[in-house]
Amino acid sequence: MPIPVIFSEVNSIQQYQVQINNGIEKFCSELNGRPVELYEPLRYTLSLGGKRMRPLLTMLACDLFDGDAAIALNPALGIELFHNFSLIHDDILDDAPLRRNKPTIHQKWNRNIAILSGDALLVKAYELICNSSVPSERKIEILKVFNQVALLVCEGQQLDMNYEKASVIIISQYIKMIELKTAVLLAGSLKIGALIGGAKEEDAKNIYEFGKNIGIAFQLQDDILDVYANEEKFGKQKGGDIIANKKTFLLLKALELSGHNAYKKEELQQWIYAPQFDAKHKIEAVTAIYEFFNVKKIAEDEMMNYYKKGLSFLNQLPVNAQKKENLISLVESLIVREV
Ligand code: IPE
Ligand code: IPE
Ligand code: MG
Ligand code: MG
Ligand code: MG
Repeated sequence: MPIPVIFSEVNSIQQYQVQINNGIEKFCSELNGRPVELYEPLRYTLSLGGKRMRPLLTMLACDLFDGDAAIALNPALGIELFHNFSLIHDDILDDAPLRRNKPTIHQKWNRNIAILSGDALLVKAYELICNSSVPSERKIEILKVFNQVALLVCEGQQLDMNYEKASVIIISQYIKMIELKTAVLLAGSLKIGALIGGAKEEDAKNIYEFGKNIGIAFQLQDDILDVYANEEKFGKQKGGDIIANKKTFLLLKALELSGHNAYKKEELQQWIYAPQFDAKHKIEAVTAIYEFFNVKKIAEDEMMNYYKKGLSFLNQLPVNAQKKENLISLVESLIVREV
């Protein structure tokens, strides 16, 4: 399936998207080892595309510091592979039936295949980062960032699991959890690109903070879309977070605001603790409670706060204004998104 190209008016973004798409296509065409049960699910997942924004962030960050983005391509592709690995395992953890509008790997094949092909993809991610022409000292540096981020993602995913079962979670804990499971990978994608581009330590730190805050905004948006998106456009099961009792911003805010409304609080708690339920009925009822407390709007405001905070870090960077604009237009499209 062709990957949609966005921002036709901005050349460099378009060029990088083409290079990334070609790189993934080449990777898939070379992925023909045995046993086929290991590799076929990977070709399946990768051919479904996705936004491929993390590698684009890496390329743009490299360009931002006037580096040669061609050198950043393999590490950027490695990051996209890591992201896809994390999605394959995330869909097992979340018991998710749909990804990119198609059955998830564990659903189409089985859980064991999803675990193993995910593992293989993680190894391939490292292979691509190592097989890049980044000078060896810088390569060690970017591998360090990659390793740190990859471990933080696992920590975030574990907290996400822990919080499904925990009864009292506060919003600051949720923000930390999404920082780990989602935001640090965006931050790391940018930092790795910046380091390949030759950024100074302080600038690399600022671009990491930019990515971290944008990433928190991105996950807040993802949580909103999980409830409110058009399922076909979003490509994932609508209401999956409600079914799984994910402690999203929406749920935590609704729980907080129901503190003064015993009736609504009781209703929400009953749905959370219901041992058995009809999924459609639960999604409708919990969404109605969200409407009652207006939590979608509160979540959107919170998302905008993190978005603006992220931009303040980008604005500190002593780089070409037009290149900054490229990056801003990309992150804007990620925050105001339907998929
Ligand atoms: C999905 O990431 C996982 C989250 C962190 C919310 P994306 O929304 O970037 O997924 P694809 O790669 O575009 O499908
Ligand atoms: C994703 O969080 C985080 C990682 C994949 C590491 P979600 O579970 O919300 O992502 P989606 O909604 O399934 O894409
Ligand atoms: Mg998920
Ligand atoms: Mg998840
Ligand atoms: Mg989600």
